[in-house]
Amino acid sequence: MKITLVIATSMNGKITRQNEPDVSVWTSKEDAVVFKNLIQKHPVLIMGRGTYEAYKNKIELEPGRLRIVMTHNPEKYKHLSVPNQLEFTKEQPKELVKRLSFNGYKKLLLVSGEEINRLFFITNLIDEIQLTLEPWFFGDGKEISLPFEKSLSLKLTSVKKINTNGTLHLIYSVKKY
Ligand SMILES: NC(=O)c1ccc[n+]([C@@H]2O[C@H](COP(=O)([O-])OP(=O)(O)OC[C@H]3O[C@@H](n4cnc5c(N)ncnc54)[C@H](OP(=O)(O)O)[C@@H]3O)[C@@H](O)[C@H]2O)c1
Repeated sequence: MKITLVIATSMNGKITRQNEPDVSVWTSKEDAVVFKNLIQKHPVLIMGRGTYEAYKNKIELEPGRLRIVMTHNPEKYKHLSVPNQLEFTKEQPKELVKRLSFNGYKKLLLVSGEEINRLFFITNLIDEIQLTLEPWFFGDGKEISLPFEKSLSLKLTSVKKINTNGTLHLIYSVKKY
């Protein structure tokens, strides 16, 4: 299973501007294109309930694409589930990835916030990080990940300036030991 984490950050590593839930107010339209293309290439998307709450009114469910929302209380959201398109789970990353691999999926896109990113970082399951660096500096906001003790070593495999304002799209592979 190839796992790609996609994130947009300010230049000081914030994934939200203060407490604003919707990042599209500061991310560029070019990043929106990158993000849309990545979604098109992935049959499974995983997010946390925090990210789901921020975008539930914008998410367009579609046949052939499964969106999985991680929550401690999947029963609470069961009535919103749509078979093969939207599910809520309390499975942890390893068992979730194992199930998806067993079901034939070969790649997944992580579109989550700081809590779920941390869970995937500590299990060392992420293979690639696609990071859009927007030319903003935020005094406060959520981080890419909640703190954890490990470190990950990355290799930059692609860098593109995607607009005249200097938004950078960076692709890193995560070194596995
Ligand atoms: N800039 C970007 O690229 C980017 C990307 C994604 C999200 N965001 C932003 O980040 C914000 C959301 O951040 P977030 O950190 O709250 O989002 P998140 O990590 O996607 O979701 C957090 C939620 O995940 C669930 N969770 C945490 N640990 C779990 C575990 N061990 N097992 C099962 N479920 C678990 C909890 O839901 P329950 O409370 O229901 O248990 C928790 O509230 C939004 O504003 C969104 O716009 C930005």
